[in-house]
Amino acid sequence: MDRYAVFGNPIRQSKSPLIHTQFATQCAELLSYEAILAPVDGFADSWRAFVKGGGKGGNVTAPFKQQAYQLADVLSERALQAGAVNTLYIDSNGRLHGDNTDGIGLVADLQRLGVDLPGCAVLLLGAGGASRGVIGPLLNAGVQQLVLANRTQSKAQLIAESFTNTVYACGFAEIPNKPYQLVINATSSALSNERPDINPSHLQHCLLAYDLSYSSEPTAFMQWSAKHGALRQADGLGMLVSQAAEAFYIWRGKRPDVTPVLALLQQQLKAR
Ligand code: ATR
Repeated sequence: MDRYAVFGNPIRQSKSPLIHTQFATQCAELLSYEAILAPVDGFADSWRAFVKGGGKGGNVTAPFKQQAYQLADVLSERALQAGAVNTLYIDSNGRLHGDNTDGIGLVADLQRLGVDLPGCAVLLLGAGGASRGVIGPLLNAGVQQLVLANRTQSKAQLIAESFTNTVYACGFAEIPNKPYQLVINATSSALSNERPDINPSHLQHCLLAYDLSYSSEPTAFMQWSAKHGALRQADGLGMLVSQAAEAFYIWRGKRPDVTPVLALLQQQLKAR
């Protein structure tokens, strides 16, 4: 049986084994998928041991996305743009490929939610790894205007420089006053139950406020945006399932249906 796994530290919280097991059943693919706790300084050794034991491909989560990037023999355009790898696989010549499906997962989820990306002015909050991974796919999906705002302005500037003029970088206080139809929180503020401190006027024309984080309750950003005029809110659970579907497609050449798997995860989160 072909072996797949997700690598992280910590890893107990990972939903990837459940998601991929569901995909495999749905697509009638015979495979196993496990969660592997790699030592913080031992990702490469963990990966090699996994491959020796018959591992065919893997997902990579925090804190190993940059280490996976370094380890890969071949990097996809998406991985190069993101500067990080979340999906690994070995080709028939034994070469290790690194890809990144996070950004395309977000785009797929926004499409599922009916967002017309080419018609959107997007305000993207945060300038860490998460933000960097989604900019390229958003631009490729046709977004014409993207404002990248971060608490620390210089970090937004640094990221914007590696993209086209379409990306305008600024601090929270300098966000241009114009209508944004899509506002995305890519900061890690939800981890501390906080929200990015931006002027609520930026939400006045917002059709969808999207938080890359998720939990059993709507995040602080989602709750706050609902109070300040954003028509709809969504969390990042759909993105999680969609990035996994892209990885599954890379490995198995089949596209699973994300809808029932997302529903199952939502149910489980609510039952907690
Ligand atoms: P990730 O890989 O999740 O993107 P990261 O690279 O550590 O994590 O980046 C975290 C991002 O969240 C940064 O943009 C950070 O802002 P700073 O660059 O100013 O530190 C942002 N962030 C975290 N907590 C935040 C908060 N409470 N309010 C606003 N931004 C926050």
